Amino acid sequence: MNPSTSLPDAKLAPQADSSVLQIFGGHRLHGHVKISGAKNSALVIMAGALLCSGDCHIRNVPLLADVEKMGQVLSALGVKVSRQGDILDINASNITTSKAPYELVTQLRASFFAIGSILARLGVAQMPLPGGCAIGARPVDLHVRGLQAMGAEVQIEHGICNAYVPNGGRLKGAKIYLDTPSVGATETLMMAATLADGETIIENAAREPEVADLANFCNAMGAKIHGAGSSVITIEGVPQLHSVDYSIIPDRIETGTFLVAGAITRSDILLSPVVPDHLIPVIAKLREIGVQIIEEAPDCLRILPAETLKATYIETLPHPGFPTDMQAPFMALLTLAEGDSIINESVFENRLRHASELNRLGADIRVKGNTAFVRGVPNLSGAPVIGTDLRASAALVLAGLAADGQTTFQGLHHLDRGYDRLDIKLQQLGAKIKRVNEVSTPGVTSNGSTPPVTIAN
Ligand code: UD1
Repeated sequence: MNPSTSLPDAKLAPQADSSVLQIFGGHRLHGHVKISGAKNSALVIMAGALLCSGDCHIRNVPLLADVEKMGQVLSALGVKVSRQGDILDINASNITTSKAPYELVTQLRASFFAIGSILARLGVAQMPLPGGCAIGARPVDLHVRGLQAMGAEVQIEHGICNAYVPNGGRLKGAKIYLDTPSVGATETLMMAATLADGETIIENAAREPEVADLANFCNAMGAKIHGAGSSVITIEGVPQLHSVDYSIIPDRIETGTFLVAGAITRSDILLSPVVPDHLIPVIAKLREIGVQIIEEAPDCLRILPAETLKATYIETLPHPGFPTDMQAPFMALLTLAEGDSIINESVFENRLRHASELNRLGADIRVKGNTAFVRGVPNLSGAPVIGTDLRASAALVLAGLAADGQTTFQGLHHLDRGYDRLDIKLQQLGAKIKRVNEVSTPGVTSNGSTPPVTIAN
């Protein structure tokens, strides 16, 4: 394996509203990329740290705006949070309020999941409803119904979800069936059940690796959770949890994004550390498209330049199905595949907005309902584009890497939310990409339109 180049200081890039990414496409990538810790694990493990009154020493935490925001949510609750490099120390011995701040929760949906840990710890929690976002309505009914099944009184008033355990007691173990295997609801309820009285069984639970990571984190603090990663999770409540030193799993979506970066630029790159088992549907689809992927070591993947990319059919599904978070990057890749591809987004109702921006780069995509019909074209050509959400933004950057000429990408705040220094990692692989401060007319985007208003997902 090539030695990986180290990343610059663990600081978020200063963010001017007018910053854009300039991408000069058509260049191959080469070398090794270091994959960061999983965003979706980090956020929910930070919420899980509220369950424990001791010290939580959390390693491999990615440098993301979302992690910073989650830290602000915890600080607003009176929790001590400090970061050094990729290590986060959290001490929630003294939670001073059960009310999370509206401005932060509405920007970061995952912070709502902390309702489970706050309620379990304090017997009361007030969480602003996270609201919808750029990719769909995203209700929290399954979280609420599960907490009610555990004995909580929950009322939603004035946009706040007020929950408390009657008579100042503990939540009670319950048998909960989720109508749909929601990742967030599974995590909220698993955290709540950790300190409940008796046994909780969650049926039709989400099986995502990040759910198992949260369970492993809680178990390392003394929780008794079995079956996380399968569709039935059993949690035997314990009275309290203890201090922990824990390392977060590698980000499978960041890994998938770099695999697509390699595939779309016909490059030979190495990625580590990774957990190939977490990427089974992604690797299978890439191979079907004609991309060669080799397991160089148990935690290292190598992608080789593909001769021809072939069209395919993709349907997003809960894990272990094809991840909705990889749908946009794959759409970028399929714009250059030979033949007609079909992509059906079945998890979120409004997650194909990147199609029209990809068409600005010369792609041929038609969208009907939740299905995109992608007719492969021989090449893309650089243009100004705007990201509408996190993964849509990644897709546009990937397309820009393959397009002839210059692509100007607007929407860096989306990328910085969920990718750890994506532009720098791509630069280290030889991509011609740079962050520049664009002088622009306020309220007008680089392609002349008014910027869309979006909320974090
Ligand atoms: C998590 C991930 C997100 C990923 C998504 C699906 C985090 C922080 N975010 O989001 O990156 O795209 O899983 O893999 O982990 N639903 C309900 N009622 C509920 C909850 C969800 O109807 O109470 C529906 C949603 O509208 C959606 C589906 O269930 O259609 C799946 O959503 P869910 O798994 O809950 O996504 P999140 O946990 O929000």
